[in-house]
Amino acid sequence: MRALFTSAVIVNVLCLAQCYKILTVFPTAAPSHFILGEAIARGLAEAGHDVTMVSPFETKNPPKNGKVKDVVLTGLIEEHNRTVIHLFQMEQINMFTHILAMNFMGNRNMKKVLDHPNLQKLLKSGEKFDAVVMEQFLNDGLKPLAKHFNAHLILFSTIGPNMWVNGLVGNPDPSSYIPDWNIAYPIEMNLYQRTWNLIIKTIWYASLHLLSYPGHKKIAEEYLPKGIDFDTALYNVSLVLCNSHESTNQAVPVVPNMVQIGGFHIKPPKKLPQELQDFMDSAKEGVIYFSLGSNIVPSTMGEEKKMAILKAFGKLKQKVLWKWNEDTIPGKPDNVKLAKWFPQQDLLAHPNMRLFVTHGGLLSAFETIYHGIPVLALPIFADQSMNAARAQEAGFGLFMPFSEITEQKLDEALQKLLNDPKYAENAKRRSSYFHDRPIKPMDLTTYWIEYVIRHKGAEHLRVAGAKLPWYQYYSLDSIVVILLVITSPYFLLKFFLRLRKKSAKAKKE
Ligand SMILES: *[C@@H]1O[C@H](CO)[C@@H](O)[C@H](O)[C@H]1NC(C)=O
Ligand SMILES: *[C@@H]1O[C@H](CO)[C@@H](O)[C@H](O)[C@H]1NC(C)=O
Repeated sequence: MRALFTSAVIVNVLCLAQCYKILTVFPTAAPSHFILGEAIARGLAEAGHDVTMVSPFETKNPPKNGKVKDVVLTGLIEEHNRTVIHLFQMEQINMFTHILAMNFMGNRNMKKVLDHPNLQKLLKSGEKFDAVVMEQFLNDGLKPLAKHFNAHLILFSTIGPNMWVNGLVGNPDPSSYIPDWNIAYPIEMNLYQRTWNLIIKTIWYASLHLLSYPGHKKIAEEYLPKGIDFDTALYNVSLVLCNSHESTNQAVPVVPNMVQIGGFHIKPPKKLPQELQDFMDSAKEGVIYFSLGSNIVPSTMGEEKKMAILKAFGKLKQKVLWKWNEDTIPGKPDNVKLAKWFPQQDLLAHPNMRLFVTHGGLLSAFETIYHGIPVLALPIFADQSMNAARAQEAGFGLFMPFSEITEQKLDEALQKLLNDPKYAENAKRRSSYFHDRPIKPMDLTTYWIEYVIRHKGAEHLRVAGAKLPWYQYYSLDSIVVILLVITSPYFLLKFFLRLRKKSAKAKKE
């Protein structure tokens, strides 16, 4: 009791010295986005800060030290759940429809979030915060919240440095060597790929400025208190925390107010439930773990794919754990065990784990690299094919688009991954890159958030390029000036020659 009291006092004392009020805003109704938001909120609370979390989910198992106050955007998960049964079809959507659909979805969600009674209540509460940590994912209309709460704006980029954040902080994003995050181009692109990449990136940036921002501005002006200029709020970013790291993602430039914290959500492994522990321990040939992540409903994959996967798994001498949303699958082979949920991180930590068959989501990518397990990536939509392409390039995995799965192709890929030791070796090497950091990624996150508050927005970190219009940023205006100067003698000469010809003609007459 006494110890409990002392520790409570210590937490309070810590708080008096450097406790900040932080609002975390993670409005996306997908579990994988919430996992990241909750990890940040929990990490900040455990460091002694007073955290309020706006999200569609409720934080379960509140942190040991400190607390997280929830502002739950009720009703958004039900809405999200109605759309997830169509996720397998997203593989077939073309890029242009995809960009338009993302814009539409962003606008619709923004209205629901800003109009939500619980958010409106917080807005009218008169409460102030030191910093607002906000996910950057189709929610630009929420940026004015920071100014409203008298706080510094810190963005969290779910997919590392991308077109949603680069433009806001002036981060370089050359299409010559950074493939767009929706396509599985290699890092070393050929001329054809570089050209398409340039076109696709230009369309993304144009759609942001012509469709997305004006739409969000209108919604923000309708639902937020008056007197905050949207265009200023959009670009007034103190810090961008990027969910990326060179162990797992492509190496890219980042400006001084961008920090890569990828893998911060991973916890040290815990003991497995006894049944799973026995299953893992007794697997002499090893275990393959198959999960399509938290968003996709696996039973909607279609009969043909399901049978191909079942048959390929049935031929293996390894045991298989399959995350499946129903109680059983007719014709399930004996070496396959199903469950609706598995402690994924703790399973990946087991020494008998041989291979992770994954949809290629970024959280799974970090978790597999953390534990050095090779992957067979079966991407379906969004950044999954990019992550799969990186895994194949880095030599710790193979990449097979979900729609291309057949029994024979699966057999071949599984045999290659299980029998060629190079995949496991590369996964271990990548893992050593993950762990060799001067400071743990969650501690780094806390440090930078506190840094921004200590230095009142840390405006000295911002590059001047963030303020330039695009034609100045790319020096297009200077190029026009140079072209004019170079070509002017030719046009002047032509002009004078014509003048002379004219006057000679006039003289003759
Ligand atoms: C949404 O779907 C998930 C899994 O598909 C389920 O666990 C959850 O209970 C659903 N939530 C609501 C509110 O419908
Ligand atoms: C811009 O950000 C700085 C630093 O966070 C803050 O002090 C300032 O009030 C903000 N200005 C506007 C107009 O949002």
